[in-house]
Amino acid sequence: MADLKRFLVPWIDQVKPYSTDDISVVWSRPELKRMFVNENPLPPSERVVKAVAEAARLGNRYPDNGPRIRAKIAKKFDLTPENVYISHGSSEIIDMIMRLFVTPGDEVLIPNPTFSLYAIRARALGGKVVAVDVRPDLQYDTPAMLKAITPRTKVIVICTPNNPTGDFIPDADLMKFVELGVPIMIDEAYLEYHPEHESKAGLVRKYDHVMVSHTFSKAYGMAGIRFGYVLAHERLIGYFRNMQMPWNTSVLSLAAAEAALDEEEELKRKAAYNNAELDYLVKELSKIPGLKPYHSRGNYLFVDAADAGLTGKEIVDHVFEKDNIMIKSYASFSGRNGFFRITVGTHEENIACVEAIKRYVDNRKKANKN
Ligand SMILES: Cc1ncc(COP(=O)(O)O)c(C=O)c1O
Repeated sequence: MADLKRFLVPWIDQVKPYSTDDISVVWSRPELKRMFVNENPLPPSERVVKAVAEAARLGNRYPDNGPRIRAKIAKKFDLTPENVYISHGSSEIIDMIMRLFVTPGDEVLIPNPTFSLYAIRARALGGKVVAVDVRPDLQYDTPAMLKAITPRTKVIVICTPNNPTGDFIPDADLMKFVELGVPIMIDEAYLEYHPEHESKAGLVRKYDHVMVSHTFSKAYGMAGIRFGYVLAHERLIGYFRNMQMPWNTSVLSLAAAEAALDEEEELKRKAAYNNAELDYLVKELSKIPGLKPYHSRGNYLFVDAADAGLTGKEIVDHVFEKDNIMIKSYASFSGRNGFFRITVGTHEENIACVEAIKRYVDNRKKANKN
């Protein structure tokens, strides 16, 4: 046996993978309601499916770097194709940003809680993650984050709306980070659910350290197809190209994304479905004594069960075991451990989820009285 440790990067033990074990579980057990990874419950349209099938006929050819789709995306944001880098989902953008800026010991500033992959990919490069808890009202703690900046801060991540807490960062706060001149990733993965909220893409015309990422995994409903992109100044996009793996988007994902981009009505339908279901979940969960759902602008809802005397994990474990529903629990932060997150499902799934949680909270209350 080789002494692997002699050869491995010295920070390998601090690298933990993003666990996809639960995703393997739901693929193998179709009876489970998958309401835990912020997927869209609505499948791709017939037009997207047809585009993929047709593209498969060209599957013997290497894909190009998407000049047509980059032009379409650029037009949407009043930018040029040179401002667009396309990718295998926006997870690849997160990884690329870390690879471009982070060397061992460098710091990456993120809010807590947020999407876990930022920290995972920063650590994969030997980076140090500086995670600043959100405020008690779950908004960004901007002063605390600004205070946490050091000469070693190489990347700031602003997820807006933040996953899982649900709200957008106010513009004035965002600009305090932008004006620092430190590379900043503005992750707009969920923005398409609220097109009335202006994208921050326009900032890339003025600032060459700003990166705005988007994905087709959420409102477009193509998480399994894998397509995302980042918008940045052409100089910075040039560095992405230096670092990129060739053929990172397949002819299939390119065809799917292009077809989906042309279907504006379908996107509106999917966003409207999500937003109505989210309202339903908020309304119904608010009626359960002790539960506090925080209004969200994504396809998920963050709920605090502390006033019901329950931890998020108790609820998540219970509805999995008794009701076949998979939702997500969170490690405690700021001493609070009542949080869990529900991804919007189909209407039937949402009803089942509300009822399952209600049953559990009621039963626990009764048990405590006896
Ligand atoms: C905030 C945020 N960014 C990025 C992603 C990654 O999405 P994908 O790689 O599917 O584009 C997710 C997925 O949940 C997310 O929540």
